[in-house]
Amino acid sequence: MTAMYIADCLDVNSQGHLTIGGRDTLELAETYGTPLYVMDEGEIRRACRSYRRSIEKYYDGKGMAAYASKAFCCKALYRILEEEGMGADVVSAGELYTAQAAGFPAEKLIFHGNNKTVEELSMALEYGVGRIVVDNLTELHTLDALACATGKHPGVLLRIKPGIDAHTHEFIRTGQIDSKFGFALETGEAMEAAKAAAASRSLRFLGLHCHIGSQIFDIHPFVLAAQVMIGFMAQIKAEAGVELRELNLGGGFGIKYIPENDPVEYDRYMQQVSAAVAESCAQTGLATPFIIIEPGRSVVGSAGITLYQVGEVKKIPGIRTYVSVDGGMCDNPRYALYKSDYCFVAAGKAGQPKTCTVTVAGKCCETGDLLGENVALQQVQPGDILAVLATGAYNYSMASNYNRNPKPPVVLIGEDGKDRLIVRRETMDDLVKNDLD
Ligand code: LLP
Repeated sequence: MTAMYIADCLDVNSQGHLTIGGRDTLELAETYGTPLYVMDEGEIRRACRSYRRSIEKYYDGKGMAAYASKAFCCKALYRILEEEGMGADVVSAGELYTAQAAGFPAEKLIFHGNNKTVEELSMALEYGVGRIVVDNLTELHTLDALACATGKHPGVLLRIKPGIDAHTHEFIRTGQIDSKFGFALETGEAMEAAKAAAASRSLRFLGLHCHIGSQIFDIHPFVLAAQVMIGFMAQIKAEAGVELRELNLGGGFGIKYIPENDPVEYDRYMQQVSAAVAESCAQTGLATPFIIIEPGRSVVGSAGITLYQVGEVKKIPGIRTYVSVDGGMCDNPRYALYKSDYCFVAAGKAGQPKTCTVTVAGKCCETGDLLGENVALQQVQPGDILAVLATGAYNYSMASNYNRNPKPPVVLIGEDGKDRLIVRRETMDDLVKNDLD
């Protein structure tokens, strides 16, 4: 299976080299060094457009696609999102600050988090963030008091656990009752919060939010979640006397990491969920709310790859072959955390068959620092460039300086085929800049 089956932006050129956005990955590695994240702007913009089009098509434009910044954020990305008419969800002062630094419109920001600090809430109020998704009663009271003291009237959604158990890795599943995120329906706390929000004179209680998990391949849990949420909106109308205008259904749409993955086409997801929304609203007598969706992974995941240089190739007879690269869990902790699948390609031999089965190891001082085990790869030797595909989401954003490895840079291949550095490589000075003598 060749690279292009994973993402539209990938291909193999006449020299048999892997390309992204039409650019030879060996040349990019030569120019910028390794490890290197490369992202394709066209792929990101196409994903944004498909979400925006679905909002037009299925909700008459009465909705918003808000990119989940946690998947990958930097100033250049916020500029692309703004040009594409996207909103964005932020989940920390740092993401908010980055959006602000890029001049991203405050009213299109949604502020999430299960334990927002007073400083973060104050920052959100000051910037005029369009929606704050309140996670718990402590936060509701804190925000109410802050809004009252500053004379602000923030738009508020309540994060609800719809009780849906989406089939995904247990660490990235969030919709069930045993989750640190949001208000449970079963215990009555969600209704208590709704009544408190409705009674507040400072908060504008706009609606509800749910997010059932990530990397989900099924439509059904999304449909169920929409039904549960609209049912609860109807209950709020009956018991608290407010008809909520907005429903944020979160993100979570799966992407293709390996050829065997079969993600739902966004359009089918949008079509079926919008049908469920319309039907539930008709049944409960509610007007169709303004719908928000929050895709993260599916906007940037397939648009990115990581390029490494192969160092040691260690053959342990009868056991396995370790191919070590010059990065690892410090730039991509997903295999160490979730045993995530990835597709590996020897960038200079992308046209050749994968005849070897190897374990790809990082350079961190940790046995579990692996990027994949028993993966198919072309024959490689020290000095070769190895590409890991579909690393655009939750790689750079989850990178660390473990072992004081500097974070790799991010290069964007524009729609015109030109490369542009959008995040520079960390330097040794960056690593010691906070150390005091
Ligand atoms: N909205 C909320 C409230 C979320 O918590 C998330 C993801 C999203 C939207 C975006 O979900 P997406 O469309 O990207 O699936 N680090 C994990 C993923 C954690 C996702 C956390 N929340 C990973 O690397 O797989």
